[in-house]
Amino acid sequence: MPFAITDMSAIHGLLRVGYSLGGGRVPAFEEWKAALLGDSDFDPALVFVVSDAQGVIAAVCQCWASAFVKDLVVHPSARRQGLGEALLHHAFVEFTARGANIVDLKVEIDNPTGARRLYERVGMKEVA
Ligand SMILES: CC(C)(COP(=O)(O)OP(=O)(O)OC[C@H]1O[C@@H](n2cnc3c(N)ncnc32)[C@H](O)[C@@H]1OP(=O)(O)O)[C@@H](O)C(=O)NCCC(=O)NCCS
Repeated sequence: MPFAITDMSAIHGLLRVGYSLGGGRVPAFEEWKAALLGDSDFDPALVFVVSDAQGVIAAVCQCWASAFVKDLVVHPSARRQGLGEALLHHAFVEFTARGANIVDLKVEIDNPTGARRLYERVGMKEVA
């Protein structure tokens, strides 16, 4: 589903829930929104959103145009069904189409939801 500005509140809420056990942080809504929309690396075409049948946003992958995955969050009730992996592959396809050879991201070494395993599974390599 393409990103819509009207989804920003729901996306922010999902990030808050998704990072509640750690793994990342998200500022208060107005600060987050201003920073996101005001960043020269922001591209609305690189905010990949998954909604359920009721239209509730279940997962989001927000990338910077510099081929960097900024936030990847799946709602706790929608995890372990392959959404995280599917979103990453979707991002890789988009960046390949844009001519990128490498996609970067940062992950905490002790990410509590096993994000490092996911990244390794899709072929990402740890760099210093
Ligand atoms: C990390 C995160 C994005 C993964 O999302 P996800 O949708 O659960 O990811 P996937 O379903 O693709 O894979 C997760 C696990 O489920 C397993 N899985 C996938 N589909 C499955 C299925 N149908 N049945 C059983 N297990 C399945 C995968 O093998 C994987 O197993 P692992 O724990 O051994 O790695 C999610 O846990 C999350 O939002 N975490 C909090 C935010 C965060 O820390 N994000 C990363 C910031 S760097």
